[in-house]
Amino acid sequence: MQQIPSWWQTSTIYQIYPRSFQDSNGDGIGDLRGIINRLDYFRWLGIDTLWLSPVYPSPMADFGYDIANYSDIDPTFGTLADMDDLIREAHQCDLKILLDFVPNHTSDEHDWFKESRSNRTNAKRDWYIWRDPAPNGGPPNNWLAHFGGNAWAFDEQTGQYYLHLFHEKQPDLNWRNPEVQQAMYDVLRFWLKRGIDGFRVDVIWLLIKDGQLRDNPLNPDWKEGDFPMDRLVSVYSHDQPEVHEIIREMRTLLDSFGERVLIGEIYLPVPRLMQYYGENLDEAHLPFNFQFIGLAEWNAQMIRTCVDAYETALPAGAWPNWVLGNHDNARVVSRAGKELARVAQMLLLTLRGTPTCYYGDELGMQDGIIPLEMIHDPRGRDNPADSRDPERTPMQWDATPNAGFSPAHVQPWLPVSNDYKTMNVAVQREDKHSMLTLTRSLLTLRKSMASLHQGSYRSLDAVSSTCFAYIREHAGERTLIVLNFSANEQTISLSDLAHGQILLSTQLDREGKINLSHFTLRGFEGCLIALPNA
Ligand code: NOJ
Repeated sequence: MQQIPSWWQTSTIYQIYPRSFQDSNGDGIGDLRGIINRLDYFRWLGIDTLWLSPVYPSPMADFGYDIANYSDIDPTFGTLADMDDLIREAHQCDLKILLDFVPNHTSDEHDWFKESRSNRTNAKRDWYIWRDPAPNGGPPNNWLAHFGGNAWAFDEQTGQYYLHLFHEKQPDLNWRNPEVQQAMYDVLRFWLKRGIDGFRVDVIWLLIKDGQLRDNPLNPDWKEGDFPMDRLVSVYSHDQPEVHEIIREMRTLLDSFGERVLIGEIYLPVPRLMQYYGENLDEAHLPFNFQFIGLAEWNAQMIRTCVDAYETALPAGAWPNWVLGNHDNARVVSRAGKELARVAQMLLLTLRGTPTCYYGDELGMQDGIIPLEMIHDPRGRDNPADSRDPERTPMQWDATPNAGFSPAHVQPWLPVSNDYKTMNVAVQREDKHSMLTLTRSLLTLRKSMASLHQGSYRSLDAVSSTCFAYIREHAGERTLIVLNFSANEQTISLSDLAHGQILLSTQLDREGKINLSHFTLRGFEGCLIALPNA
């Protein structure tokens, strides 16, 4: 008997970066009311799950990923009552809401940290990772922070260093302390009781550090110009075996609230990533799969190798997922190229597993250009090339000044991209051939066709060196997807499949019966083709 898939398996997740989505009160920053006002958009588009980057009270050293109180909402974004409204109104229109849970670190302005740093004997001292200086007075070990520099900050008052794997305003919690675990599980309960449908857990693979805090070894492959942190191999600061016990506990807690979803943010090679499903599939439902984000080149062979390797590595019964973009990486259009935006979108929305779509990617938004003096991102202040501001520019709703994100007289927190007059929801909604129309058509097909939302996956050999082709199949329904990653026309021959029916081309200009023994795709075209039932 085939199991009925869970909602999070058939859903498409849409990531909202709340600061940049919709400003409802004219302060230049997006907020919860803004999201509520746009709920109709998701129903129209065919999205069923929203994940919100953090909206908790925060000094915003890392734009909300530095949390000062886990059980409230930052006034910039609204109030707890607004969040309750969002959950209620979203549920009324069958949308699920996921929160970002950031358990690895708090803000240094969180009461827990204030207590912890007040003196060495404070009851919360051990809630964070404090160590004496090395014999030479320097940091206790050689670990580096993700935002540059070493990962330790010296506290004059108590004469010890505390660990911060990110910004120094983001001290790492000590997850080996059972009180920390309980306090954080209480946070999960707080939101689950309010009706939150699940969590995307920030840097879940970093939660536990080596018990002896040993030095990380040097990375022999690192060269000048590479990401500074990669100078060391994070053997002792990441992916420790004990983290799995913690994740199992989080999962048990979520499961006790019924069907909720646990998603882990994990940047690891595929074999290690797979361990986060848990030996008995009792850890993350979806360890985020960032294979496409790290891709060196967008060509058919690389993509096929990447998809096949991931599919093969999945443990039995584990549900796949695909991420094309997020708030930490250049937008897919800027990484893969404008020409490939549609092919990439067809790929994302036709592969097996839960897709995650980053706000604005449904339009083909590209990275914004941020003048040096306007850089906000802490990762970009010392290294402008590493700034994440370009992928966080305001959502482009229409052609009015500020693109409908903020009222016209307001200066948004980041500049609106200068292509907003044509690249926006209002214009693309009316255009039968737009990227937005393509996204919507793909989502509609994905929802209505069981082969797409729950079918098996099989890639096809020897199609052409620039095309990637695969078949999705469920209960006899078979769908072929062929994607041409080159600028040139390609004729393919799939003679054993005989004929098919084009349901959608990325150019949105052809449908109908075709002969698969001689089928021509235009440059950068993808086609979704119904095959006769098996
Ligand atoms: C990962 C988040 O996605 C990123 O935006 C943040 O800066 C770090 N974790 C630290 O929380």
